[in-house]
Amino acid sequence: MIKKYNKNCKIIAVDTKEMDKIEDIDFLQCDFKKEVSKEIILKKLSTKADAVLSDMAANTTGSKDLDCIRTNELCVEVIEFSRSVLNENGSVLAKLFNGKDFNNVKNIAEKNFKKVRFFKPESSRDFSKETYIHCKGIKAL
Ligand SMILES: C[S@@+](CC[C@H](N)C(=O)[O-])C[C@H]1O[C@@H](n2cnc3c(N)ncnc32)[C@H](O)[C@@H]1O
Repeated sequence: MIKKYNKNCKIIAVDTKEMDKIEDIDFLQCDFKKEVSKEIILKKLSTKADAVLSDMAANTTGSKDLDCIRTNELCVEVIEFSRSVLNENGSVLAKLFNGKDFNNVKNIAEKNFKKVRFFKPESSRDFSKETYIHCKGIKAL
């Protein structure tokens, strides 16, 4: 179905949980935080990617602070990994929480990308600290 819009498009999806098969999506059931998972993703990509999208959130523990820290750690891993897989003008869109370590994520994103902005889509509930970060254009270090 995706190939209908772009026949050269390649999409790799990752989750620790099982996912129903979706046509043209290469699904990898693994823990993104593990180095081996990142190596497999890199091998599957034959060229640099245009975009990295992450809706990953750590499993809830009952402690909102801990959930926030763990989800934001995932977000940082996504941002740092994106440097190695994205083309120069590529984008990252990732979920994070507006908690204590929010500025840490922002600083890391600004160190790695030319443009960084935050937005909360309408579908995200007002009371939730969930928000999204969009980073574009890899910065030379
Ligand atoms: C908010 S849900 C995303 C739901 C998805 N967007 C959907 O519509 O079904 C967060 C997802 O992140 C996944 N996740 C959490 N930690 C992960 C990790 N370390 N590696 C891969 N996936 C992870 C969870 O298994 C969960 O499915």
